[in-house]
Amino acid sequence: MMKIIANFKMNLTPSLTKEYLIQLLARYNFNDNVELGLSLPFISIPIAKFIAKDKNVLIGAQNICDEEEGKNTGEINGAMLKDAGVDFVIVGHSERRKKYKEDNKLINHKIKVALKNGLSVILCVGESLNDYNNLKTFSVLTEQIEGALKGLYENELENITIAYEPIWAIGTGIIPSLNEIEKACQAIRNVIKEDFSLKASENIDILYGGSVNNKNIIQLKKLKKANGFLIGGACLDVAGLLQIVNVVNDKK
Ligand code: PGA
Repeated sequence: MMKIIANFKMNLTPSLTKEYLIQLLARYNFNDNVELGLSLPFISIPIAKFIAKDKNVLIGAQNICDEEEGKNTGEINGAMLKDAGVDFVIVGHSERRKKYKEDNKLINHKIKVALKNGLSVILCVGESLNDYNNLKTFSVLTEQIEGALKGLYENELENITIAYEPIWAIGTGIIPSLNEIEKACQAIRNVIKEDFSLKASENIDILYGGSVNNKNIIQLKKLKKANGFLIGGACLDVAGLLQIVNVVNDKK
């Protein structure tokens, strides 16, 4: 089963999300071999849950508070997300690491809170252009994964998917070569093998993210070590997202 996670970022109002979902669900083929998840702004989650109820689409959030309770004005905790019917949450996206100064320790806390509240996690990792140019990709990935997964039990990895998103590929229209992505995915699996087990490293789902669109998906689909894609900009167009799903779903 391939996973496609659409990251809406800070796009579409709740009303536009409703329109989007009505159009998407009218045309979506539910016999797919693809698991589709939509990661929405908090405020669009209730309408999305309502429109997508009884449909085979997962609804996700894009953030979670690192604490379960307390004085955290403006934050949303794990219990609130669970109660709202959220299935998964994106943690560690590079936009949050950079702009909101989220470090690996905070990300680790967020993951623990998410898991404790029964939410699956999409953990984003990836190197900057500078790291890439200085051949530091693998060491950055190792540091990010080890920091984020510190103290977790192996069985908890069942609810974690890792998204490899080179920062220089996000929203730029540039993607790494397939070989580079395969190597990064293998490096991620090696860290999991080292820190958990061979079985965990084989079982963990890894997504590729960064400028995936309805054209390059034909190439990207050939990846052997990734189990799906995290899609930003290209998911905002219903037809574009459906094309991506159809290409991934097509076994040829
Ligand atoms: P993009 O974003 O597909 O627009 O590059 C991906 C992401 O940030 O998750």
